[in-house]
Amino acid sequence: MEDSIEMILQEHSSSYTSRLSACTGALFTCFYGVWSLFVLPGFRRVPLNLKVPYLPSSKGQTLNTMKLLEGRTGHLADLGSGDGRLVFAASSAGFKCTGFEINSILLAYARSKASWTGVPSSQATFVNKDFWKTDLSSYNNVIAFLAPGVMGVLGEKLLKELPDDARVIACRFPFPNWPLQSSVGSGLDETFAYDISSVRSHLRQEPNPVY
Ligand SMILES: C[S@@+](CC[C@H](N)C(=O)[O-])C[C@H]1O[C@@H](n2cnc3c(N)ncnc32)[C@H](O)[C@@H]1O
Repeated sequence: MEDSIEMILQEHSSSYTSRLSACTGALFTCFYGVWSLFVLPGFRRVPLNLKVPYLPSSKGQTLNTMKLLEGRTGHLADLGSGDGRLVFAASSAGFKCTGFEINSILLAYARSKASWTGVPSSQATFVNKDFWKTDLSSYNNVIAFLAPGVMGVLGEKLLKELPDDARVIACRFPFPNWPLQSSVGSGLDETFAYDISSVRSHLRQEPNPVY
């Protein structure tokens, strides 16, 4: 009898603890969301329809991104570099990388990581800039892990600015109406490669070509 009462009490206490930690997690996420949307400098200034929250690339997504960059060299921009993981992967493959990031905490983390792991600024720099307001014409490789709602607008910007030999890698969310060069992986880790010259020549054949 005593044993079963003890078991019931233990079950109650463990379900209470797991509910408490779920609530704490949800509260923290809400607080972080509200804080980043309305308080975080930089993020506050991005129009609501272009705001993208932080979500780190998984290991699989990072590997898939690097597979689609095999054989390429030059300058690479990660649009919204988060904690810098894609930039570090690309810089160790020889790219000269720039991570654009408006979240100052993530930016500070990525910069410190670059310094403690000895990655020189000639290989990886992290800049506190809104990529929507930045001319990207000096990059021949671009990575974007953003959100489905912004991919159309981003596509228009990249088509205006990138050189013809540029390759764009979209993580998880493909560009609407762009012809795909190749893709790697499946599900949430799927990444998509587009060559700007092919995208332009495809879109020129559309009824009202813009590019
Ligand atoms: C989905 S996360 C991707 C992070 C990182 N690239 C990765 O794959 O782990 C998108 C990132 O973009 C940043 N971001 C959103 N809008 C931005 C903007 N306009 N300019 C620069 N960074 C931005 C967010 O703060 C966030 O860190």
